[in-house]
Amino acid sequence: MTKKKILITCALPYVNNIPHLGNIIQVLSADVFARYQRHTQNEVLYVCGTDEHGTTTESIALKEGLSPQEICDKYYKKHKEIYEWFNISFDYFGRTSTHYHHEITQDLFLKAYNNGYIFEKDLEQTYCPKCEKFLADRFVEGTCPHCGSNNARGDQCEDCSKVLDAKELIDPCCTICGSAATIRTSRHLFLDLPKLSDKLEPWITGKRNWSANARNFSLGWIHEGLEPRCITRDLQWGVKVPLEGWDNKVFYVWFDACIGYISITADYAARTNDDWKRWWKDPDVDLYQFMGKDNVPFHTIMFPATLMAADDGYILVHQLSSTEYLNYEGGAFSKSRGRGIFGNDVIDTSIPVDVWRYYIYINRPEKSDVDFTWEDFQKRNNEELVGNLGNFIYRALTFVNKYYGGVVPDVDDEERDTAFYQEVGATIDQMASDIGSARLKSGLKLLMKLARMGNQFFQEDEPWKNESRRPHTIKTALNLCATMAIAMEPYLPETAEKVWNMLKAQGDVHTSPWDQARRPMFSGGERIASPVMLFKKLEDKTISSLKTRYSGKKQAQKKEESSMIQYDDFAKCDFRVGYVESAERVEGSKKLLKLIVDIGDEKRQLVAGLAEFYAPESIQGKKIVMIANLEPAKLFGIESQGMLLAAEKGDSVSLLTVESDIEPGAKVR
Ligand code: 2FM
Ligand code: ZN
Repeated sequence: MTKKKILITCALPYVNNIPHLGNIIQVLSADVFARYQRHTQNEVLYVCGTDEHGTTTESIALKEGLSPQEICDKYYKKHKEIYEWFNISFDYFGRTSTHYHHEITQDLFLKAYNNGYIFEKDLEQTYCPKCEKFLADRFVEGTCPHCGSNNARGDQCEDCSKVLDAKELIDPCCTICGSAATIRTSRHLFLDLPKLSDKLEPWITGKRNWSANARNFSLGWIHEGLEPRCITRDLQWGVKVPLEGWDNKVFYVWFDACIGYISITADYAARTNDDWKRWWKDPDVDLYQFMGKDNVPFHTIMFPATLMAADDGYILVHQLSSTEYLNYEGGAFSKSRGRGIFGNDVIDTSIPVDVWRYYIYINRPEKSDVDFTWEDFQKRNNEELVGNLGNFIYRALTFVNKYYGGVVPDVDDEERDTAFYQEVGATIDQMASDIGSARLKSGLKLLMKLARMGNQFFQEDEPWKNESRRPHTIKTALNLCATMAIAMEPYLPETAEKVWNMLKAQGDVHTSPWDQARRPMFSGGERIASPVMLFKKLEDKTISSLKTRYSGKKQAQKKEESSMIQYDDFAKCDFRVGYVESAERVEGSKKLLKLIVDIGDEKRQLVAGLAEFYAPESIQGKKIVMIANLEPAKLFGIESQGMLLAAEKGDSVSLLTVESDIEPGAKVR
């Protein structure tokens, strides 16, 4: 068989959150595929990484008082830890804030620009004169022009659900500072998708290996007529437009995100002395991409269109596998409401990783949305992993230990065994074909079928009383265990390793050739170890406590209780008079001032949003009131060791000051 190069990617997760179980489906899907491909001896590269640009990164940074880069660093680490826990076998997990990413994005853009596929056009947009910012949809609120509700956002009305254009809102205002928003004109760059239609259509039509959904939807969009796509945004954080006069713009996150697959490969290649073009510019490489359904148009239209426009020898997606959504107990996951199970929660449950992996794969939402329920989770663990898979392997190993002192019986196969091996071999072939075509759920069902076949074989042979068949039954069952260890490896790598070790098998279960799973491994006389249980039952009380913990109810209750505080809580606040020794602007920020404040026995550095209301010199020498025992926080990368008090009225802010001769450090009650 000729060796192929298989390049695998899964949608790059947004950096600014903790991924929930539904988000993790994509990295897991690509993982089974990559692990399987490594058993086939193809050359495999599985890359992924965090998608770090976009408005959300800027807004979370604002909310958490960190710079966008700090937000990315913080969440990149969290993502990486979670995927490591899930045993995702990335060859490299990178990110899109690297210089490779900026360079490759700009290079592709310039090529598309020079080839005539980019044009400029003015757009009218909502603008906040106070923040001096064009406002992304989520930063505008106002009155709905359809139903009159005050609950309308820039893209949709919360009450009547109508989709809106931010410019339609009545009395729009900026959600960052609360002031009235206006409309301004801004010049943007557009990718000329209509001009690329003639290239896209025949290419997609030829993709008969794509799922019917992905292919039909994509062709549907083309037949409806593609619109030019705006690829720039008025933001600071992102990849700069490499043209003169475009300093205040960056590329739209979806323009650069998919290019992340290429730049992450380049980053990896640079670390391993490889050449990234070997993967992206060789027509013999097959590119497999895994994603959620909402990402499909970007991977079948926008990204290929960008590469076609650049016309620089890049390969395009060969096979695309998309899934529907995973919901949680009949609703959506919500981090802020504590509803649903997120990557870090999964780790906290102490339930072994392969139970989670199994659950996700067996429920992979391939045709329609799927609901995660704790009852189903418990049932699948107890009946399928414990009752079927774990039970068969434990039984086979217990019997060889009990009757043959742990040595595989050295007997010739009987007709029944040969027939059984044949059936096993056919199932392994079917599994290979399923996984190789990204029918991942079906592949796992076949693994479970092998376990059921094993249990049935045992049951029918009754080796506990049928002495003449006993050595044959046990040898054949052990051979099935070895087969299953390899076959389960893509799905349940940790369990596969346990089985492999119990069988004292040679080599590495993670890289053993898939073909080896088709042949009996034991000929007789080999010594194996004593069995350990592979899975444990999940008890009702464990499940019910997990269900309560992640239901979001506790958090809602806590919030309700927290609207009133006890005197003791108030007494914990250490309010002090502080003397402002110096004040200066924070470089790069329009809003922040850095103050050095004397509070008697020590000096504190404060970062406060006063720059729009006070000139630094006007604060110097004032006695202010501050809270001195607030946990330090970083604002714009600078530590603030406390917070000063100020009153707000409409658009203005007034500092609370102390006029008398009271000393710095005096307590305020
Ligand atoms: O939907 C998302 O989470 C996006 N960050 C996916 C990007 S996929 C690719 F373009 F990187
Ligand atoms: Zn504003």
